[in-house]
Amino acid sequence: MYDIVVFGATGYTGRLCASFIAQNYPTTVQWGIAGRSETKLKDLAKELQRDFPDRVQPETELVELDIESLTPLVSKSKVVINGVGPFHRFSTPIVEACARLGVHYVDFTTETLWIKGLIEKYEDVARESGAILIPGISPTAPADLIAWLITKQIRDSFSTGPSEVIATGKLDIKAMSAGSLTTVLDSLATYGPSWYLSGNPWILSPSSQKPKSTPSPPLLTRLFGYRSAPGLGGLSTSFTGPGNSSIVHRSASQNPNLYGPTFHYSEYLPAASITSAFLIHLVTKLAVLMISIPLIRGLLRRKLVPSDNAAVPDQEELRRLERAEYCAVGRVETYGEKPVARALFVREGALYEFTALLTCAGARVLLNEERGEERRGKGGFFTPSLLGMEYVEGLRDGGVRIEVQDLTVDV
Ligand SMILES: NC(=O)c1ccc[n+]([C@@H]2O[C@H](COP(=O)([O-])OP(=O)(O)OC[C@H]3O[C@@H](n4cnc5c(N)ncnc54)[C@H](OP(=O)(O)O)[C@@H]3O)[C@@H](O)[C@H]2O)c1
Repeated sequence: MYDIVVFGATGYTGRLCASFIAQNYPTTVQWGIAGRSETKLKDLAKELQRDFPDRVQPETELVELDIESLTPLVSKSKVVINGVGPFHRFSTPIVEACARLGVHYVDFTTETLWIKGLIEKYEDVARESGAILIPGISPTAPADLIAWLITKQIRDSFSTGPSEVIATGKLDIKAMSAGSLTTVLDSLATYGPSWYLSGNPWILSPSSQKPKSTPSPPLLTRLFGYRSAPGLGGLSTSFTGPGNSSIVHRSASQNPNLYGPTFHYSEYLPAASITSAFLIHLVTKLAVLMISIPLIRGLLRRKLVPSDNAAVPDQEELRRLERAEYCAVGRVETYGEKPVARALFVREGALYEFTALLTCAGARVLLNEERGEERRGKGGFFTPSLLGMEYVEGLRDGGVRIEVQDLTVDV
């Protein structure tokens, strides 16, 4: 029996997850690394043995991605971490196996439309089996957790949910792996540009849970991407905003007693001026339109996607160059435009290692089932905030600065 199995462990990000587990999980953990290449799995096992000789070593598991081959391995696992991407092309059978066999699951997909399809197909199956499935725990956890923390803060102070949470999310990315670049190109090829251009932020919520009226962005925002918000300053269009918003709204629809009936979340990039906001907006929309043209996609694939990850700088260098910062403010009806709560989520260091931290810290919470009273007997597709304060504390232990501030004293 395995406590945890990493699928796609031989990929760029899967390896970082394997290293994270070897370095940080309790030495009693029984774990496995799974993949399609025996040679790569053996190499990874040797590296882990060399880098972490005094830690518990994983078993290697060779698997094919069909339900028959996956069933024996998934059925002897408690939690699955999956890094096989592009996820919409290869990973559906892994999610199906977990949903059917009642095995908890996390991954780091950015493919919101794939998640939507999974919910439609396997939500009822997972409810029946008790599997807790959290696709996209990275990259969506920062946005989902700060929205949840602000909502809790406002609920405690005002006995109501926020009318709106507005956030900024900024990733200082200095390198992308071959897998990430391929996923951007393949997602636009499969799904087309429309959701990426005007993403419906309620796409992952049951239509019955969507509030009757949601605030429409100001005209300036819709036309030019610019918005100004007290407590956050100038804002512009964010490529990752719709994906994060759809996860936060799913959290709200699954927990209406906390978030309240009028909750609304929106996410932007910080912008220094109206001109830079407009430029960011224009470049984002144009890039999506260009990548949806097959000829341009083909050229980009040839020019940008390396055949392996040798060109990606090593983690040591990225640790000095990269960071992630999310900031959010929350409002309530009675205080109008003035924010009443603020939250911050900052991680200095390499972003692919940050993905491994968000994913493995989440998986570890799912392993601690004896402490997860709120989750017991619950199955289905959930969002990172389901993992609650235990997850927040795990991330703080991993070096993330997470703060929530009550602004009512200044209001
Ligand atoms: N959310 C985030 O923050 C975040 C961060 C990083 C990556 N990602 C996403 O994670 C995914 C993986 O990224 P990466 O950089 O790790 O890519 P990668 O290095 O290309 O790894 C892909 C993994 O999938 C496996 N795989 C691919 N096709 C397969 C197939 N047909 N059958 C079986 N296994 C297959 C690969 O196996 P082999 O090793 O045998 O080739 C490898 O283990 C991408 O979709 C990327 O967008 C998200």
